[in-house]
Amino acid sequence: MAESVRVLLTEDEVDKRIKELGEAISRDYQGETVHLVCVLKGGVFFMCELAKRITVPVTMDFMSASSYGSSTKSSGVVKIVKDLDEPLKDRHVIIVEDIVDSGRTLSYLIKMLGDREPASIKLCTLLDKPERRVTDVKVDYTGFNIPDEFVVGYGLDYDQRYRNLPYIGVVEFN
Ligand code: IMP
Ligand code: MG
Repeated sequence: MAESVRVLLTEDEVDKRIKELGEAISRDYQGETVHLVCVLKGGVFFMCELAKRITVPVTMDFMSASSYGSSTKSSGVVKIVKDLDEPLKDRHVIIVEDIVDSGRTLSYLIKMLGDREPASIKLCTLLDKPERRVTDVKVDYTGFNIPDEFVVGYGLDYDQRYRNLPYIGVVEFN
C-alpha cells in the first residue's frame, strides 16, 4: 500500500507553540528546578525543543514505554521498556509526551511515577486527540488539540519511520 504525508502543522507553527509552552512552564515554576521526564522515543524531539525554551533550572531523565506494535491501533498494553535512571522523590516532575491518544499509556505512567513521591507531577504533551480518549488523563500543558487522524513527524512514527520530519503530518494511504 502506498502512503504519503500531508502537512497538518508546519515547522513554524510547532516551534512557536513550543516557545509559548516553555514560557508558561518558566512562569509556573519560578524559583524551582523542573525535572523533565521524556517518554521515548516520540517525546524526544519535543523535549529537546521545550527544554531550550525553559528559563528556570532544568534536569532531565528518559524512560521508554510502549503501547503500540507496528500498527496504528493501540494494543492497550503498556510495557516499561526502559525505566528512569534517577529517583523522583521531592522533584517537580513534568512528563513530556508526544501525543495523548487513548490516554492508557499516560494514566499508567502518571500513577506509576506518582508513587515515587515527587514534590509534584504534571503532564505536558505536544499533541492531544481528545476524541480518542478511553482513560481519563489530566493534561496540564497541551501544544495542539488535533482531530482523530494518524500523525507523524516531530518524534512521532509510523512503523518507526518519519520521526525526523520537522513538522506534523497526516499519513494518507493511497
Ligand atoms: P495512548 O496510550 O493510546 O494514549 O497512546 C500513546 C502512544 O501511542 C503515543 O505516545 C504514541 O507513541 C502512540 N500514538 C498515538 N497516536 C499516534 C499517532 O497519531 N501517530 C503516531 N503515534 C501515535
Ligand atoms: Mg509516545
